[in-house]
Amino acid sequence: MIKMKNYKEINFKLGNYSSKKIRDFLGKILYKENKENIFFEINNKEIKIFLRLLNFERFKEEVNKLSKEESLNKNHPILRLLQKIKSIKAYSIKSGKRFYVDYNKERKVKDRQDKVKKRKAENKDNKFLMEKNNIPIKYKNKIICGDSLKVLKKLPDNCIDLVFTSPPYNFGLEYDSQDDAVVWEEYFEFLFKIFRECIRVLKFGGRIIINVQPLFSDYIPSHHIISNFFLKEGLLWKGEIIWEKNNYNCKYTAWGSWKSPSSPYFKYTWEFLEIFCKGSRKKEGEKKNIDISAEEFKKWVVAKWSIAPERNMKKLKHPAMFPEKLAYRVIKLFSYKKDIILDPFNGVGTTTLLAKQMKREYLGIDISKKYCRTAEKRLKDLN
Ligand SMILES: C[S@@+](CC[C@H](N)C(=O)[O-])C[C@H]1O[C@@H](n2cnc3c(N)ncnc32)[C@H](O)[C@@H]1O
Repeated sequence: MIKMKNYKEINFKLGNYSSKKIRDFLGKILYKENKENIFFEINNKEIKIFLRLLNFERFKEEVNKLSKEESLNKNHPILRLLQKIKSIKAYSIKSGKRFYVDYNKERKVKDRQDKVKKRKAENKDNKFLMEKNNIPIKYKNKIICGDSLKVLKKLPDNCIDLVFTSPPYNFGLEYDSQDDAVVWEEYFEFLFKIFRECIRVLKFGGRIIINVQPLFSDYIPSHHIISNFFLKEGLLWKGEIIWEKNNYNCKYTAWGSWKSPSSPYFKYTWEFLEIFCKGSRKKEGEKKNIDISAEEFKKWVVAKWSIAPERNMKKLKHPAMFPEKLAYRVIKLFSYKKDIILDPFNGVGTTTLLAKQMKREYLGIDISKKYCRTAEKRLKDLN
């Protein structure tokens, strides 16, 4: 026997619509669904839907098809039904279907919220102030050539919304003005001084996103060391994105061993994006300044991004650029229009280029005059 308490009940009045016609329509749109998962009762006045499990996307398609065929107006009970089901936010997903009841029983972890509290996951005693400052005009929408540590010291506290950067990785690359192979302790000391300034200039709720590739052949987990630094500085970890570059052309075991367990060497076709927040994981902003679409949002919150490496490095004469697509996603997913975006290792200006294109304000700093000139030119060419 069917127990009604195992169903979510939706009911509404039919008004002047014919119950016979609605019954036929419901038969048409639900013919693929199992009657144990969704069924209805209808009389001349009202319709009652009993809902447990539904392939919502398929249901939506059927409704839209019917609506076209029958030219239904937007107040038609069938379209209202679609809206009502769509507006139910509490469900779980199982094999592509939405579960509208008993999803708590399905959960592996009971009383989830109590347990979150018990674990004291939130770092509530952060020392950060909520006051905001404006970025001085001198630094707004500018490319500044200089050592980031010195330049950042001239900025007021809490004036930047998003820091997005990829620092030099200490791989030994041939940069224009900087030695890229120093003792690791020195390297991290240099980086952390600049990152401390980045934290200071970041607004409450602002984000710092570091694109980093560990030097696996030195067995130095830079992404963990950098993350540990930000945690110690009191920032909140928001998550990690794998940037899958799909570059499988690396050689087999130049280090380690071949076909032996003695020391297999791993291949990595990806880099990391480590995401940290200052004071709060939630960033306030005006609705009218949100520019991400539903499709983009759905796709990009899956934290593995397949994006090919930058192809213009030779042309732009920089050995370690990230692609425009990467900056595009980061900026859209983590900032609002008009936010101020900082890249303290701006190279030839991929971050600042995308920030400008996407109607954000920006500040890009790099130690190389040559790279700064290219960054300026890329911005100019936008006009
Ligand atoms: C990995 S690259 C960034 C490339 C950039 N994402 C792009 O797409 O063009 C790192 C950059 O940091 C710069 N750099 C190194 N030390 C610096 C410092 N102390 N201050 C500012 N920039 C620095 C280098 O010149 C280099 O361009």
